[in-house]
Amino acid sequence: MSYRRIVPVIVAACFGMFLTAAFAEEAAKTTLENLQAAYNGESNAKARYDAFAAKADEEGYQQVASLFRAAARSESFHARNHAEVIKKMGAEPKADVKSPEVKSTRENVETALKGEDYERDTMYPAFIEQAEADKNNDAVETFQEAKAAETQHAKYYKEALENLDNWKTGTKDFLVCTNCGYTTTDLSIQKCPICAFPREKIELVK
Ligand code: FE
Ligand code: FE
Ligand code: FE2
Repeated sequence: MSYRRIVPVIVAACFGMFLTAAFAEEAAKTTLENLQAAYNGESNAKARYDAFAAKADEEGYQQVASLFRAAARSESFHARNHAEVIKKMGAEPKADVKSPEVKSTRENVETALKGEDYERDTMYPAFIEQAEADKNNDAVETFQEAKAAETQHAKYYKEALENLDNWKTGTKDFLVCTNCGYTTTDLSIQKCPICAFPREKIELVK
């Protein structure tokens, strides 16, 4: 075979080996590993949003600060719920909480939106699929509840980003379900629309 013909063959073979390795890697991820990854992600999101809330207050975006506080609270419930399932499976929850990189509020909202979009569209759907295949109902439930809340977080971050100047003075009221972390500005709800937790156990976050 000539040099010109053999190069593409080698490239194709290498790419094939790379793909096989990549899929083997994916397949090796267990539901327990996914729970640990989600626990780590939620713990870091909580720390990030607390830091972003302080920055938003400092920059005069008080309503954005309320949103970050509500989301931080919600993420703390996700971390707690994932940790409970990890413990039930006989393992120890492990998180490596990094000191958050804080930029301008606009950039922080962009970062937050990207994170929520990723969790809603990519991470939790994959984790739910694996947990269903494993028939791990506790994991399916905690992932599904988190995904429902992330959908709300993404919605509000997007709204804030599109109209950042309208999110300045005054506080914004959020309700956060203390069971599943569902987050809403609809103060009229009588119970959590996701997990049916009663109104008394849904917290007001300003
Ligand atoms: Fe979360
Ligand atoms: Fe979230
Ligand atoms: Fe809930």
